[in-house]
Amino acid sequence: MTLNKDVESILVSEEEIESIVKRISAEIDRDYKDTGKKFLLLCILKGSVVFMGELMKHITIPVEIDFMKVSSYGAGTQTSGRINIMLDLHRSDFSDTDILIIEDIIDSGRTLSYLVDYLKLKGAHSVKTCTLLDKPDRREVDFTPDYCGRTIPDEFVVGYGLDYDEKYRALPYVGILKRSVYSK
Ligand code: IMP
Ligand code: MG
Repeated sequence: MTLNKDVESILVSEEEIESIVKRISAEIDRDYKDTGKKFLLLCILKGSVVFMGELMKHITIPVEIDFMKVSSYGAGTQTSGRINIMLDLHRSDFSDTDILIIEDIIDSGRTLSYLVDYLKLKGAHSVKTCTLLDKPDRREVDFTPDYCGRTIPDEFVVGYGLDYDEKYRALPYVGILKRSVYSK
């Protein structure tokens, strides 16, 4: 496979992502079977769409899916620190539902800590979080995901759903973006 010309190096290969997805889906099956509740996988658009699609194929217990879109990043590689809900859930009663938020990457931690509180306020029976990647060195608020693919160093990465300026989402691996692309 040829590397995208804007990618410095591959950080998480297709093979590693596949084994992460298998491991996490087995953990989810184990933790959520026989709860007697509805189980909702909540994809945070757009970055999590590839991870969620792959994960839901491997989970064997019954799931419902839904989507929210939030923005914390402005254009570029810096988070703005403010969370805006661009697409919300429209169901009103979540009291019989366990929600698992599926995220592509945790950076400051603001998006997920905000969303967990928001969904608990909506009355969900439980709210947990699952992320493919975590950059713990970048944390601005205390936050630990319940399921994590792997931690990565403080690098800006693209691929497998993750973008820079809406590009590179369709790459099958996660790669480090060349600095020259965003520090022009
Ligand atoms: P947080 O609220 O700062 O944790 O931001 C998380 C969001 O920032 C993720 O859902 C991504 O959309 C975006 N993000 C953080 N780091 C990266 C990265 O390295 N590449 C692409 N998007 C990123
Ligand atoms: Mg995102």
